[in-house]
Amino acid sequence: MSNEIEAIKDPGLPAHVHRRADTDPKAALKAERQVAILFLLSALGTLTLIGSYFFIPQDAFIFFPVLGNTNAHQLFLGLGMAASLFFIGMGAIHWAKTLMPDEEVIIQRHEFRSEDEDRADLIATAKAGAAAAGLGRRSLIKRSLALSLGLVGLSPLILLRDLGPLPGDELKKTSWKAGTRLVTDPGDRPIRADDLEVGAVAQTLPQIGEGVHRKLSDIGKDAVLLIRLRPEEFNLDAERLSWTHEGIIAFSKICSHMGCAVALYEQQTKHLLCPCHQSTFDVTRAAKVIFGPSARPLPQLAITVDSEGYLIAKQPFSEPVGPSFWERSS
Ligand code: FES
Repeated sequence: MSNEIEAIKDPGLPAHVHRRADTDPKAALKAERQVAILFLLSALGTLTLIGSYFFIPQDAFIFFPVLGNTNAHQLFLGLGMAASLFFIGMGAIHWAKTLMPDEEVIIQRHEFRSEDEDRADLIATAKAGAAAAGLGRRSLIKRSLALSLGLVGLSPLILLRDLGPLPGDELKKTSWKAGTRLVTDPGDRPIRADDLEVGAVAQTLPQIGEGVHRKLSDIGKDAVLLIRLRPEEFNLDAERLSWTHEGIIAFSKICSHMGCAVALYEQQTKHLLCPCHQSTFDVTRAAKVIFGPSARPLPQLAITVDSEGYLIAKQPFSEPVGPSFWERSS
């Protein structure tokens, strides 16, 4: 018979050592319970993920000695997903190692389509293998696996909910107001014009009250890049030039294409680059797009200094930050 799978004793191999679960029903029962516990831990992980998504506010923080203030929503989402996937994998591996059929076989392979008779044999063998795996008999494993797989399947559906709704006019609202100081990120220290040398770039945020936690969604919208040039290097109209201070210019850090963080600055060319799709903005011309898919410049924040010499916003952003496609009505 061709294409057959059959158990063959090879005299060249050492004698096969059977696992305890193959010969001892008590060991098999113990292994079965261990597998079920692993699947149940996976289910617990998924329930943690779902619970944290719905019941822990996105701006809830928790203090850990080493990590410091940590976002509890994201922490438990991550831990839940990690436990869910880790334990379902561990359960499957433990099941395969302790209870699945443990036979040494040699598969006779042939190059072309097998005979119908052989294909039928293969199906029969696969069914026999499934029966030997004990799915029918081991109802505890079957049920716990079904629960675990069912809950794991729910996770992506829940995360899909994060794709919407559209932000509406939320991108028109940031924390920047007239008089808001620019502070370092990280560090929250107010910045003086002298802190920046010509050619320097720094990420800043608006100053908020002491002990107030920034919402993650606000950080995304509020992040601003400060860049210092020589004043004569600007090629701006009078209004935009008045939004700068002693060669320092400020732009929203959120790319106007699809919202990535614009993070690369070429000091020689004075270009800002978005690493996602290579949109390139000319700092000397109010972040005009000179390359890439972005359709509009990065919004510029008008800045000046207060009576103590710290950099402040002159006014809020005059246009929405972030991707321009969110502004379309259709
Ligand atoms: S998100 Fe910046 S170029 Fe696409």
